[in-house]
Amino acid sequence: MRYILISLFSLSLLACQYRNKPNINASNHSFSNYNEVKVNHLNLFLDVKFGKKEIWGTATLKIRNEAKAHQIILDTKGLSIDHVAAGAKNKLTETTFTLGPEDSILGRALIIPITDSTTEVSVAYHTLPASEALQWLSPEQTHDKKHPFLFSQSEAILARSWIPLMDVPAHRFTYEATVKVPKELMALMSATNPTVRNDSGLYHFRQERPIPSYLIALAVGDVGFKPLGRNTGVYAETGFLDSCAWELQSMQAMVDSAEALYGPYAWGRYDLLVLPPSFPFGGMENPCLTFATPTIIAGDRSLVSLVAHELAHSWSGNLVTTATWNDFWLNEGFTVYFEQRIMEKVYGQKYAEMLAALGRGELDLTLKELMADPARRADTRLRLNLDGRNPDDGMSDIAYEKGRFFLRHLEQTTGRRDWDRFLKNYFSDLAFKSTTTSLFLDKLNKELLMTPELHQKADVRTWVYGEGLPAYATPVVSEELERVNADLAMSRRGFTAMLNHMKPETYTTHHWLHFLRNLHTSIDAKGMKVLDDRFHFTQSGNAEIQCDWYQLAIKHQYKPAYPALEQFLKKVGRRKFLMPLYKALIQTPEGKKWALDIFRQARSGYHSVSANSVEELLQH
Ligand code: BES
Ligand code: ZN
Repeated sequence: MRYILISLFSLSLLACQYRNKPNINASNHSFSNYNEVKVNHLNLFLDVKFGKKEIWGTATLKIRNEAKAHQIILDTKGLSIDHVAAGAKNKLTETTFTLGPEDSILGRALIIPITDSTTEVSVAYHTLPASEALQWLSPEQTHDKKHPFLFSQSEAILARSWIPLMDVPAHRFTYEATVKVPKELMALMSATNPTVRNDSGLYHFRQERPIPSYLIALAVGDVGFKPLGRNTGVYAETGFLDSCAWELQSMQAMVDSAEALYGPYAWGRYDLLVLPPSFPFGGMENPCLTFATPTIIAGDRSLVSLVAHELAHSWSGNLVTTATWNDFWLNEGFTVYFEQRIMEKVYGQKYAEMLAALGRGELDLTLKELMADPARRADTRLRLNLDGRNPDDGMSDIAYEKGRFFLRHLEQTTGRRDWDRFLKNYFSDLAFKSTTTSLFLDKLNKELLMTPELHQKADVRTWVYGEGLPAYATPVVSEELERVNADLAMSRRGFTAMLNHMKPETYTTHHWLHFLRNLHTSIDAKGMKVLDDRFHFTQSGNAEIQCDWYQLAIKHQYKPAYPALEQFLKKVGRRKFLMPLYKALIQTPEGKKWALDIFRQARSGYHSVSANSVEELLQH
């Protein structure tokens, strides 16, 4: 801040006419010239103003002008740039800057002139309502309903909407931040974090390990902290903290198991923040501090595999990072595979296989949908082509589940011992670096698939560059879910026969999900009522079960579930639940009318990520 000289010139004078069009490298979704200028460190000052719902910030970038470039190009989207200064440490002077034309996906390039001797560039800016990463919540939208809340979601390319930076996953930097918040609230980031609130409202953060921009995160709210183990703990709103700590009891065991599998945890502490229900994802692997939806707090510890997933990203994604969004599967597919290995270690093989079987069921549905649409068939490849598209478009079950089953196939082909050794080396060799599909395949060929037989059996090119799944990728058999299949088979003899055969007290959330997903299609509203009377799905407090049940309710016009469905859509902002429910609703004209009406009321409570996806769906 102090480097910025308050200028008497007006903004319009400073923001001179846009002349030289920067190279838009569409395939990495960034305007930035990170190949010419290296940003090594980011120093942030952020003043979080809840009244105006704005962050006023200064981002000071420590740079190395390796290519002796005449300009540094940063990404911005929905930001107001107020002043820019450049120079050497402690000797910055205000400079002109240029903003490129607006691209609806990428935002605007911020072009700042520099010289060979420039080592620091400082940008004073403030966010706008269009700063899509941020969601400002009113007290009513929180658990405790007493204080407002703010959180960011930067992945994939939204970091640029709250910080001007080089927003490209191939580039890493360390960061530190000073954040000013109202004194009743605490600030948290993807960095070293406070555990108690202080009365100054000023918090300092350091992330000493280099990270890609999509892992910068901020949350501000009335939260407290509870330790869970040696280097683990949970943050949540004060009135929710005990339930969260109970639910996440296995977190330390997960960290220990993950380390035993693939090497030391590189980030110091592993904490988790439970957010208000509008959080648009299940979880986000922000380093040191996973952000998570409160829908995993089911009251029975049944949805904690999500923690294993976000934790696994501490290796696959955060330590070894996809260089471009085309290779998103290197983050997510590896992580789903690793998640399963953690679950197996902590909860046993039967449990892990049950989760894998459910994952395969979801993959089959996605494949069916994408393969039926000639325009989307290519999206069933692991390696994507997202040029000119929003990276969000490529983020389907393919990266997650096809990715997982490819790595499972490699494990089965090469044997767990050799495969694990290879993967552990992969993480340590590429630690704090970026990776690509071809780099991974090169390493695989050199270090693991060393005989022609293994090479042939691995069939790597079919998996990575081919559409759909290879025919030999047979479904996962889960002993646990076979029990559910046996119950479902009884329904052919009638509903009562099935109900008599079931032992519902032995069912967990996952058994129920398999049950609901495979119920005979001839069930009608009457059958729905029988099930509901018996198992109380409409009133279930488990969001996964609610989501599946409400889809059935819509399909079979089971009206008694509608008020609860409406409430759910207005409360929960997790995109994974919203999309199938809205999709089911718009299948009929009355349903569509109702969906539009609910969305009109609920929209302002959704994060932009969810709001944009639902809006696009409803427009068709
Ligand atoms: N990194 C993702 C979330 C993400 C993906 C954000 C793409 C933005 C763009 C996170 O790790 C994730 O995969 N979350 C899943 C949970 C998981 C258990 C599969 C989710 O949110 O549902
Ligand atoms: Zn993930």
